[in-house]
Amino acid sequence: MRKNSWVSNSGQTRPFSDRLWLVPFLASLLVTITLLLACAFGLFAPFYGGGDSVLLDVISLTSWEEPDKYFVESDVRSKALFSNSTDSGSDSDDGAPRIAYLITGTKGDGLRIRRTLQAVYHPRNQYILHLDLEAPPRERIELAMYVKGDPTFSQLENVRVIAKGNLVTYKGPTMIACTLHAVSILLKENLKWDWFINLSASDYPLMTQDDILHVFSTMPRNLNFIEHMKIAGWKVVQRARPIVVDPGLYLSKKFDLVTTTEKRELPTSFELYTGSAWVMLTRSFLDYCIWGWDQLPRTLLMYYANFISSPEGYFHTVICNSHEFQSTVIGHDLHYIAWDYPPKQHPLTLSSKDYDKMVKSGAPFARKFARDDRVLDRIDRELLRRSEGRFTPGAWCAGDGGADSCSVTGNDSSFQPGPGAERLKGLMAGIMSQEYRKGSCSNLAYDQSKRKWVNRTRT
Ligand SMILES: *[C@@H]1O[C@H](CO)[C@@H](O)[C@H](O)[C@H]1NC(C)=O
Ligand SMILES: *[C@@H]1O[C@H](CO)[C@@H](O)[C@H](O)[C@H]1NC(C)=O
Ligand SMILES: *[C@@H]1O[C@H](CO)[C@@H](O)[C@H](O)[C@H]1NC(C)=O
Ligand SMILES: *[C@@H]1O[C@H](CO)[C@@H](O)[C@H](O)[C@H]1NC(C)=O
Repeated sequence: MRKNSWVSNSGQTRPFSDRLWLVPFLASLLVTITLLLACAFGLFAPFYGGGDSVLLDVISLTSWEEPDKYFVESDVRSKALFSNSTDSGSDSDDGAPRIAYLITGTKGDGLRIRRTLQAVYHPRNQYILHLDLEAPPRERIELAMYVKGDPTFSQLENVRVIAKGNLVTYKGPTMIACTLHAVSILLKENLKWDWFINLSASDYPLMTQDDILHVFSTMPRNLNFIEHMKIAGWKVVQRARPIVVDPGLYLSKKFDLVTTTEKRELPTSFELYTGSAWVMLTRSFLDYCIWGWDQLPRTLLMYYANFISSPEGYFHTVICNSHEFQSTVIGHDLHYIAWDYPPKQHPLTLSSKDYDKMVKSGAPFARKFARDDRVLDRIDRELLRRSEGRFTPGAWCAGDGGADSCSVTGNDSSFQPGPGAERLKGLMAGIMSQEYRKGSCSNLAYDQSKRKWVNRTRT
């Protein structure tokens, strides 16, 4: 400041004489003394506030209380995570949640998809049906005609059929692409939903939607159900090290994955997680994955393009490496799945002898079933009270007397929970416990057959 006043004053007073020079000199001397006194009395900061830009930066940086608000990410993040119902598309009219289902199948699965759809149908929910490219066009058209012809679906418009089937390679990244495709449609159409569940034609519910929606009404809406564990053991060798190329990305016919002879090292900038391909994810987490406003989901999607069994790792790795969503993870896939043991790679086909275990598990869904297996009829009869070709009845069915009470749609936010709700509450009590949640995204191993976290015995 002293220097500034000297320069400007001398500029104005040229040509200068001894006397003219003396006045500004005395003035600046006075200023200097004042400044020094000010420093001594602790008034330093206000004086420098307007003067020295370098010092200003240092001072203001240290005085930032919320540095976050100066960066774009924090803004996007808080909008995505905490926005109230209206613009996030979830529901605000009443407390009950809505679920978006993706039901996928391949050639010959048209009728099974219909049956699964009828069993999980509820007017509050959204449904996307996908028959992959291997299914002949006729089958897809038949499915679309069925949806179009059903009076309930055409009235409520909550069932959609993907017209252009995706080519999906078993264990390949095209499976992820297909799931993300369905999620994008759900977001783009601005539909109301809180959770996304993906099912295949060989999945079946073990309780009614009334049971499920009733129990989830009381749950925090930010929980992501995704069975996961840090990658270890044989999976490192057989999943993380191989490099594969998915022909579904560039060929128009189905072929197996191509494996290269090169192996790769484990990544160092993120941790790999693996688990079940069956998930129940929140809208805000999927928003984050689809929009990619944080680079992590996109980077990982590229990484997983060459990963074997990517549906068993992509969402798991994204969520456990993301600081915002890590704490929302519940390590369960809400399915009853009987694994072969060892090597736990293929789920066994369920039949009547598994009925009791299935019911006892409290899981809302089970897989996998053979087409029209007798146990499905028993589930329809005893658990869903559904008759053939009809919807699973619930409190929304307002028809009176007639053969099909669900032909008239009543109040879709009232539920009639039955014994299924009690079973699901039992399951939830276990997996929501602090003890169980502590294992999420940790170093603990997960015992898939016992469904619990265990210490690693060897790495
Ligand atoms: C969302 O709405 C609830 C209740 O209406 C309110 O308590 C909460 O503060 C709101 N949250 C935000 C981020 O606006
Ligand atoms: C979603 O569902 C399909 C159903 O066939 C499955 O193959 C896929 O692996 C699932 N998971 C993900 C993450 O895409
Ligand atoms: C629908 O049911 C819910 C829950 O039972 C109730 O709060 C609401 O008032 C009902 N709506 C109508 C229009 O009857
Ligand atoms: C794992 O081991 C630690 C220390 O030995 C123990 O405190 C912890 O309870 C164990 N966790 C589980 C899930 O067994």
